[in-house]
Formats: sequence, C-alpha cells, structure tokens
Amino acid sequence: MESFRTKVVRGVTLRADPAREPCFKVVHDASELADYSDMSDASRRQRLHKHMHNEMQSLEMAAQSLADFPDVPWELRMCLARQCWDEHRHCRLLYRRLREIGGYKGEFPVMNYEWSVTCMMDSIWARLAIQNRTFEGGEIDLLKRLVRMWEEAGDPVTAELLEGILADEIQHVRFSNTWFKRMSKDNPTVLLKLASAVNFVKSVTKALEPEPGETNAVGVDLTGFEHVEVLANVDDRRLAGFTEGEITEILRQEDALRAKPESSR
Ligand SMILES: [Fe+2]
Ligand SMILES: [Fe+2]
Repeated sequence: MESFRTKVVRGVTLRADPAREPCFKVVHDASELADYSDMSDASRRQRLHKHMHNEMQSLEMAAQSLADFPDVPWELRMCLARQCWDEHRHCRLLYRRLREIGGYKGEFPVMNYEWSVTCMMDSIWARLAIQNRTFEGGEIDLLKRLVRMWEEAGDPVTAELLEGILADEIQHVRFSNTWFKRMSKDNPTVLLKLASAVNFVKSVTKALEPEPGETNAVGVDLTGFEHVEVLANVDDRRLAGFTEGEITEILRQEDALRAKPESSR
C-alpha cells in the first residue's frame, strides 16, 4: 500500500480528501455543512446533493481498496468491482433526481468524512469493517426511514429511487459479512482487524462530537438531530448477514439511547 497524505480535524488524523471538481466547496467539519433538518425545497435539494456525494465517496473507497490490496482473493475483488459499479449508478441516479428538482452539482458544501475515516485503515478487513459493515450497515437503517419520509413529503419518485439503492446496499453489507465469516475461520486476526477498526470509528466519532448548542452553516443545532428516530431495520439487517447476536446488540444500544434524557443524546 502506498503512503498517503493526511489532515487533522479536531485533533484527529484522517486521510486527506480525494480530488474534487472545482465546483465543489469541500469542508472538513459538520459545523461547516449546510444540512437542513426539515423537508423544505432547499432541504430536499441538499439531502439529494449530500447523498449523491456520499455515493461518490463509496465508489472511491471501494476503488481505493481494489488499488491498495491487489492480493486479496479474486472473488472478493470482484465483489468490490461490482460495488464500484453499483455506487457509480447510485451517484448518477441521485444526480439526475437532484437536477429534476432544480438542484445542481456544487450547490451545497460537501465533506469526505467516510472516505477520510475508512481510508486511514491499512487492511482490507478494517476497510470492509468500516465502509460496509458500519457505514452501509447504518445506511440500511437510515434508508428505510428515508423512503417513508420522502413518501410522506409527497415525492414517491425519490422514495422509489432510495428503495432501489437500499436493495443494493444490503448486498454490499452482505458480501462483507460473508467474507468475514469465511476468512475468520482460518485466520482469527481478521476479527482483530475488525474490532480495532470499530474502535477507531468510535474514537473518531467521540472526538468530532459537536459541543452542546453548536450549529452548522444554516443555523441547525448539531446536537438536536433526532438520531433515535432512525430505528434498526431488523429484517434487512438479517438479509445483510448480521447474526441474531449482532442484531440484539444493536437493539440494546437503541434502547439505551432512547432511555437517555434528550439533553445528553
Ligand atoms: Fe450506494
Ligand atoms: Fe454501497
């Protein structure tokens, strides 16, 4: 694996950003983003713009893994190559929808958070643990809620698009779970890589946590997001190959979060 450039955000060392067209304003901290919390016209465009950019990152991360780890089993490289194709398609579909509702590329600031965290890792197992199992695992939960949200907001076209993306994301998580099971049988260090990667994400999340009352570029309170409303999508997580034990643990964390007073979430 070749050496790479890094950047420091709130004291955490992360991988430096991938190249971007000049139309994009790249920021490094959630406080600089213009994410809205409602479903106004501007918010709809911002949501699609952010999702489009996230799909671009997903493509870049999977492609970077192909380039960085040429010696992983060929079948796994094929899974990553197929994932690149899926993420590219997702990105284009969202870009098309964004333009249909009057948005354009570069309309909102973008952040390469997932890329910067995932691509710090020096093994394919740690990358899959973060990109596929953690971020895309979380996306399985989030997308289920978003489909309903866009439907309720009177936009069945976007809702249907997101439902299609969800089906692909389940497959991306599933192949990573399959490979973890297969490889960890003979090589338990694979699970150590997974555990240390998850700990790295936890430490980054903690370090980047906004201060109470901190707002972003459009005045939205960053600690006011209702994360607890995104419930585990148990059926699809099962399809994605998470074990019953892992699903029980996710539900336990969800209960613990719900039991916390609003101010400390
Ligand atoms: Fe995707
Ligand atoms: Fe994906």
